[in-house]
Amino acid sequence: MDLAGKTALVTGSGVRLGKAISRALAERGCQLALHYNASAEGAEEIREYARALGVKAETYRADLSSPDEARALIQSASVNFGHLDILINNAAIYLPGKGMDTSADILEKQFRLNLFAPVLLIREFASQLPEGFPGKVINISDAKVFRHQPDHFAYRLTKAAVNEMTLMFALELAPRITVNAVAPGVMLPLAGREDTDMQALAERRIPLKRVGSPEIIAQNVLHILDQDFMTGTIIRVDGGEGI
Ligand SMILES: NC(=O)c1ccc[n+]([C@@H]2O[C@H](COP(=O)([O-])OP(=O)(O)OC[C@H]3O[C@@H](n4cnc5c(N)ncnc54)[C@H](OP(=O)(O)O)[C@@H]3O)[C@@H](O)[C@H]2O)c1
Repeated sequence: MDLAGKTALVTGSGVRLGKAISRALAERGCQLALHYNASAEGAEEIREYARALGVKAETYRADLSSPDEARALIQSASVNFGHLDILINNAAIYLPGKGMDTSADILEKQFRLNLFAPVLLIREFASQLPEGFPGKVINISDAKVFRHQPDHFAYRLTKAAVNEMTLMFALELAPRITVNAVAPGVMLPLAGREDTDMQALAERRIPLKRVGSPEIIAQNVLHILDQDFMTGTIIRVDGGEGI
């Protein structure tokens, strides 16, 4: 896909992975509908970065745990840009706890943001795409789900469901819309735990002996956008951790 002049909606564009993906899209001339919830400053920084490159970019606030706000996000962005060609479902929360720590409230919170919002956004995205235009959806999943461990119980369930949902929508929306996923391994320390010794962690767990980076995930997103014979693929980008 020639990205110049196309429009991508990136959820959670104001920090970390979402920010790197948005920056990489802007560098390829892709117009940006930049979603944020609390990180207005980060999203505005990317908006200004894109505009300085001569690329149209706008920011939109939405709490994606609310179906009404999710629907309104697609509607406003679609009207402002004419239509959206690409949807990157990146926003997510990562709640700790094993199964026995997981209350109904935690399950609901996790599923609302990590699964229900992407499903709803994909449906709204597909509905707004004009006849005759190809669309591309990329879900940001997690390589964790390929290794079975009891931690982050609710989060892992949501990402396992995101993988399944990617395949189901790939079938349902073909041939006009492709639906793929990128499943990152360890890219960054947990938010608020920036003092974690990431190199020591990599030496212990990752065959390639280093952690990834937001830019590596952005490269994989661009790679998928450059393919026209790929749908229902989940790319694991984890330095071999899941082997
Ligand atoms: N970082 C990693 O190493 C790693 C590894 C594997 C998978 N992943 C996946 O990669 C994606 C990005 O990870 P990250 O570490 O960059 O994310 P992060 O730093 O945890 O940021 C979470 C993002 O989700 C958005 N968000 C949170 N609550 C929201 C709500 N109620 N409504 C709308 N947006 C909300 C945040 O927006 P605001 O800041 O604007 O509120 C933020 O952009 C996620 O899907 C994550 O599961 C990350």
